[in-house]
Amino acid sequence: MQIIRHPAEMTAWAKEQAKAGHRIGLVPTMGFFHEGHLSLMRRAGQLADFVAVSLFVNPTQFGPQEDLAAYPRNFERDCAMVEAAGVSVLFAPIAAEMYPAGFSTTVAVGAELTGQLCGASRPGHFAGVATVVCKLFNIVQPDVAVFGQKDFQQLAVIRRMTADLNLGVEIVAHPIVREADGLAMSSRNTYLLPQQRESALSLSRALALARTIAAEGERSTERLTTVLRDFIHSFPETEVDYISFVHQDTLQQVAEIDEKTVIALAVKIGGRVRLIDNGLVL
Ligand code: PAF
Repeated sequence: MQIIRHPAEMTAWAKEQAKAGHRIGLVPTMGFFHEGHLSLMRRAGQLADFVAVSLFVNPTQFGPQEDLAAYPRNFERDCAMVEAAGVSVLFAPIAAEMYPAGFSTTVAVGAELTGQLCGASRPGHFAGVATVVCKLFNIVQPDVAVFGQKDFQQLAVIRRMTADLNLGVEIVAHPIVREADGLAMSSRNTYLLPQQRESALSLSRALALARTIAAEGERSTERLTTVLRDFIHSFPETEVDYISFVHQDTLQQVAEIDEKTVIALAVKIGGRVRLIDNGLVL
């Protein structure tokens, strides 16, 4: 496996592959890998001849009060894991090369997709994500890029940007990978104190509860939201950021659930660990 640090070197590698007629699959990440990331890499391997993984903790998608400095990092361990996963290139640039002096361009997807859910709680987050993913697509020049469905709004934003800017990259969504007890895998799970682990299960259990109640015939998202809020708050140290029922493609809120309704949740545990989860209700 090659480790590439410089964008120009990464693009030179990509051009060589394209010349040889090889398909490149990209998995954009911020590192601190877990089984969820590895499953994205395996999926990319099925769709392309060579897999490139980018590892870049992108400063522009973190707000001033967020966890950029504390974000978990372990480069040695990450290298060993991607190598074992059969990845061809690990692209790990430094911030000064991604955002050199004078950098002043932002890719901003419209508020219909970015103004609600995580976009409402994290102003500027999706502009940071869209900008860095657009840059990564230009640098790595992938044929296909694989993203996890846990970041469901991110996926919608990236699909929109890719279509609107004719980036010519196939966007593939990969299902959420969960721990045995249902917790969606996330690098941020490492922030949880042992006694908060049970409270983190409030998200996946709330999804299950919503499905059970919907299967019994409930369609009102207002009534479901009330039940789910009380349910989540029955776990210690939980604070609901949002419980939203939205259309799977447009992300617009719905009053009544149907087959295309996704329930999206964000919950803060212990006042500092913000976790998200989502899934179709029916
Ligand atoms: O999902 C992530 O890890 C990040 O938002 C991404 C897509 C790598 C952009 O920094």
